Amino acid sequence: MPEDFQLNDSQTLYRRWEDSQWSPFAIDLSDDRRQWEAFPADRRELVLFVLSSLMVAEERITTKFSGLVGAHGSEEEATFLSTQQVDEARHMQFYARFRDEVVAEPGLIAAHVASARKHVSPAFRRIFDDELVEAHDRLLANPSGAAEKVRFVTLYHLILESTLGLTSFKFTTDYLTGEDLLPGFVEGYSKIHHDETRHIAYGVWFLRQSVAADPLLEDVVRATLRDLLPSVAESLSPPPTESSLDFDLLGTSGEEIRDFALSGLRRRLDLIGVPLESL
Ligand SMILES: [Fe+2]
Ligand SMILES: [Fe+2]
Repeated sequence: MPEDFQLNDSQTLYRRWEDSQWSPFAIDLSDDRRQWEAFPADRRELVLFVLSSLMVAEERITTKFSGLVGAHGSEEEATFLSTQQVDEARHMQFYARFRDEVVAEPGLIAAHVASARKHVSPAFRRIFDDELVEAHDRLLANPSGAAEKVRFVTLYHLILESTLGLTSFKFTTDYLTGEDLLPGFVEGYSKIHHDETRHIAYGVWFLRQSVAADPLLEDVVRATLRDLLPSVAESLSPPPTESSLDFDLLGTSGEEIRDFALSGLRRRLDLIGVPLESL
């Protein structure tokens, strides 16, 4: 086991959380507000598309998590997982605040999520509304089931937070920073990203421990990836040509986006001990 990997156990990650507090209400959004008013229509649509995906994702990720806290092993793991639950709620609050104050459509979070849902793709809905909800329900029904917990963490930490989340972060912030756009949004999203790297470290640690203790669980990791990867690839692809969304504005290609996602997944699967090739 690499030396630095040991550092990512639940207790170490919890200590890191204590040193990484931030408030979604302390970020200055005044430049974002000014810029938003003058945004050309095509860019506004692209940013709204990204923002809608993040809003829907964080709502699901916040409200479909408590089953994992209840399925904790050690007290240290319970402690870390309760911090992750707070983080996810904080992320949802930041995206809702952005809609309230910059997009200037004040509303309750439920109304933001409902309007954001109109912009997300069917593949995205399949992942967050069907697969995640089902994996969470199964874990709630059987908190001590090793296979249920491994499926949930593979889906949540390895697929949603790593493969989809880190990829969205990279290409969205590269674009906004390169164009000098929405500095407050980039600052908040970067803090969210910092939290996410801690969550992902937990997921890799947990899955690695689980498959080392019971190699039969490798099949659960593999089956979950096989079930989900087609929808992930679809949701990372540019929308169909009849859509008015112009992904070329991002200055990258669908292929580059998918390569980035896949190489990160490959690295993490190697650490876990279930190589991508064994799928
Ligand atoms: Fe999050
Ligand atoms: Fe997260």
